[in-house]
Amino acid sequence: MSVLEIRNLHASVEDREILKGVNLTLRSGEIHALMGPNGSGKSTLAYVIAGHPHYTVTEGDILIDGESILELEPDERTKAGIFLAFQYPVAVPGVSVANFLRTAVSNVRGYTAQQAETEGRSGVIGSNLMPMREFRKELNEKMKEYNVDPSFARRYLNDGFSGGEKKRTEVLQMAMLEPKFAIMDESDSGLDIDALRVVSDGINKLATPDRGFLLITHYQRLLNYVKPHYVSIFYDGRVVMTGGPELAHVLEEKGYGWVEREFGAEAVPA
Ligand SMILES: Nc1ncnc2c1ncn2[C@@H]1O[C@H](COP(=O)(O)OP(=O)(O)OP(=O)(O)O)[C@@H](O)[C@H]1O
Ligand SMILES: [Mg+2]
Repeated sequence: MSVLEIRNLHASVEDREILKGVNLTLRSGEIHALMGPNGSGKSTLAYVIAGHPHYTVTEGDILIDGESILELEPDERTKAGIFLAFQYPVAVPGVSVANFLRTAVSNVRGYTAQQAETEGRSGVIGSNLMPMREFRKELNEKMKEYNVDPSFARRYLNDGFSGGEKKRTEVLQMAMLEPKFAIMDESDSGLDIDALRVVSDGINKLATPDRGFLLITHYQRLLNYVKPHYVSIFYDGRVVMTGGPELAHVLEEKGYGWVEREFGAEAVPA
């Protein structure tokens, strides 16, 4: 079992503090939903966990199984088992889904040019990558398993993809990378029913006992398809409350007004 622990995390962007003491623990086998109003810092938290260079951690720590990952580069964090699905994935014209995945998988699984040399595969283009034939075989199997059309592999990453297609790529990526901790930043507003199903089916299939999910979401909608073990409310740069799935229903019904009254800057200390 693995644990991702966020301890009193403070982070800033351009000297403005966005994360103001986040505490959150994610264990393998758990699905943890994170809900909170626009601008409260949820995506920032996801980026900081992934090691985005834009953000500066000023206090606190992020640990995997007790080891800080703050000094790790983003690709090393991916290697350590962290996967981040962006709220707004970027298009990468010129890079096919297959090539992108092969590079990512090779990094995570530690394929190196040196290794290729000892195996007598050096000197060829791509010798620092997972061997093409093996990769293809696995990709085809996973595409079948996750209902992704084979023609997909040749298309340029996210270029002209529909919402559902972007989500399919994301699920495929997760299936190939087999992360310990998957952080999914969902732009629910952009998720049509097809995309919603792709994401939820993918998560349900990939939610094994050795993997933890952090689902950042605005609405209860996704949680009708994926049952979280915990729901945390994010407000003004920190987690202010954690409960069970019922908390998502309370938010859906009552909105965030009561959260603001209880935890906002104007709140009267009890
Ligand atoms: N790179 C950046 N440069 C400047 N400000 C930023 C940057 N990233 C985030 N912020 C600011 O940090 C605050 C939190 O933004 P963030 O995107 O994390 O919120 P969010 O909770 O994900 O919102 P939403 O629900 O709309 O997705 C916002 O005020 C935003 O403008
Ligand atoms: Mg966001």
